[in-house]
Amino acid sequence: MTLNPKLTQLLNEQINNEMSSSYVYLAMAAWFEQTPYMGFASWMFNQSREETMHALKFYQYVVDRDAVVVLQPIAQPKATFESPIDVFEHSLKQEQLVTQQINDLYDVAEQVKDHSSKNLLLWFLNEQIEEEKTVRDMLDRLRLAGTDPASLLVLDREAAQRQSPTGSGGHGGHGK
Ligand SMILES: [Fe+2]
Ligand SMILES: [Fe+2]
Repeated sequence: MTLNPKLTQLLNEQINNEMSSSYVYLAMAAWFEQTPYMGFASWMFNQSREETMHALKFYQYVVDRDAVVVLQPIAQPKATFESPIDVFEHSLKQEQLVTQQINDLYDVAEQVKDHSSKNLLLWFLNEQIEEEKTVRDMLDRLRLAGTDPASLLVLDREAAQRQSPTGSGGHGGHGK
């Protein structure tokens, strides 16, 4: 079954969205590198790598469906932040944006009755639930910690211990 042109275009856009997301997280990692929060820097670095893996998963899918990959420029990401909370608030917005993008893609896959694409996108939708939850949980605890350095360092240490992604995405090895 030939990949629908509209769907092909949107899947290509999603490669760009995921790469942009990776860039956003890399800028967050770089910002944290200038602070004492090495754990948060590591978290964001790993998150950046995971978004690259997502982009590659979409790339491979377009190739496997015998459609043409078209790469677009990646926008310069925001580089300065107010605080760890500010960074995580941006991270949550970023994930909510990606969830919306994948939801829209799913709508199109459904309209053109491309069940294989729906299957791929369902994997991503499940991934988004987990990603939003992970960020929201950290954000909740950052708000609780407020400006208390001791509490922030506990959270930073915890962030450092977060599993780096392996394979083609997913936190802590919950599969592809
Ligand atoms: Fe992603
Ligand atoms: Fe993500």
